[in-house]
Amino acid sequence: MIPFGIMTLNIESEASYIHEIAARSHSCGMVCYHFLPSSINPLTKLVQGRRFCETKQRWVDDQFLIPSLIYDRCFYGDDAHSKQCIPIVSWLKSRDDITFLGFGLPNKLALYETLSSSRLAPYLPHSGLIKDCSQVISALNKQKKIIIKPINGSQGYGIYYLRKNDKTIHVKTEKNKKIISRIFPNETKLFQWLQPLINFRPYLIQPYLELSNTVSQPFDIRILLQKDVQGVWLERGKGIRIGNTGGILSNLSAGGSVLDFTTWSSTLLQASKESICSELHFITTNLPHILEKEISPLFEIGIDIGVAKNGALWILDVNSKPGRKVVLKTDPDLKETLFFAPLLYGKYLFQSDSKERKSHYEKTLYH
Ligand SMILES: Nc1ncnc2c1ncn2[C@@H]1O[C@H](COP(=O)(O)OP(=O)(O)O)[C@@H](O)[C@H]1O
Ligand SMILES: [Mg+2]
Repeated sequence: MIPFGIMTLNIESEASYIHEIAARSHSCGMVCYHFLPSSINPLTKLVQGRRFCETKQRWVDDQFLIPSLIYDRCFYGDDAHSKQCIPIVSWLKSRDDITFLGFGLPNKLALYETLSSSRLAPYLPHSGLIKDCSQVISALNKQKKIIIKPINGSQGYGIYYLRKNDKTIHVKTEKNKKIISRIFPNETKLFQWLQPLINFRPYLIQPYLELSNTVSQPFDIRILLQKDVQGVWLERGKGIRIGNTGGILSNLSAGGSVLDFTTWSSTLLQASKESICSELHFITTNLPHILEKEISPLFEIGIDIGVAKNGALWILDVNSKPGRKVVLKTDPDLKETLFFAPLLYGKYLFQSDSKERKSHYEKTLYH
């Protein structure tokens, strides 16, 4: 039995997804473990976690060796536990005897820097680190509308839209599914709000792109790519995420809803539908290979793509630990495929790895 470990930051995180994967592990010749990085004993290297019991069809507490295959589903925040786990996960990733399904991606700015020297550069909104408030003012003077977002953010958290009026500056955000607007009468007042924000966590600045539909709802295309049982990248599905009227985010966590891609694209003119589909194809066939070549091996990615009013496509975000909600809502039949995918890709890695190791060992035997 191949040991397959799923790692999360807390034991309740993604409970049903993890249970569904575990329940299928036995049929793939695997035994599934679930643990937190912080539950590895640094002295004995034994893990205190749980194992999925095939006979009982439920988790049982167990102590085990660090599984040789790890599916990392840790979502870090600013909390102490995240800070404790990050170095442990780095240490796990550096070990030769442990194979991660995917190694994750760097922050939004590092990702931008990598992709902006690739053939996908035309699809990236220009992004820069905010070093001081005056940079934001000069961007507002030039572009009138900008977006600022934390370089380590996710789920739409901490994203602000800023618009320069004659004298005042309008700032809009979405928090707890509500749109919050504020007008700053002058630059000094804006600085008083902005300085602590950028001191607390690094932010990047981007031009605001008109990514709303005809009824002022922000929307984007979410595409899920995964590797199959032979390590070949596949598009599992795509859907449209639609945010709140007058809002700025299309994230489901911000209250967005889902529409299937075919329904949405059937409302487009034939010519724009064709050009959007062919550009999406260009992005999805190139992006995973560029990321793996320039950054690190991956098992899956979720890509957020904005569609501007003029039909231009923009790569807004790439997630190495994507959710499955959008594709499952538009295609519920994908469930089985998605529950089996990490196991099957893990098995492929395990077998190709051991073959490689074996051939390496055999080579060294001759000498
Ligand atoms: N430059 C931009 N212009 C307009 N809307 C944007 C821009 N960047 C992001 N958005 C909106 O905000 C959402 C969240 O942004 P994203 O970069 O994906 O951050 P997160 O990691 O928090 O999901 C996007 O899905 C899109 O709806
Ligand atoms: Mg996103």
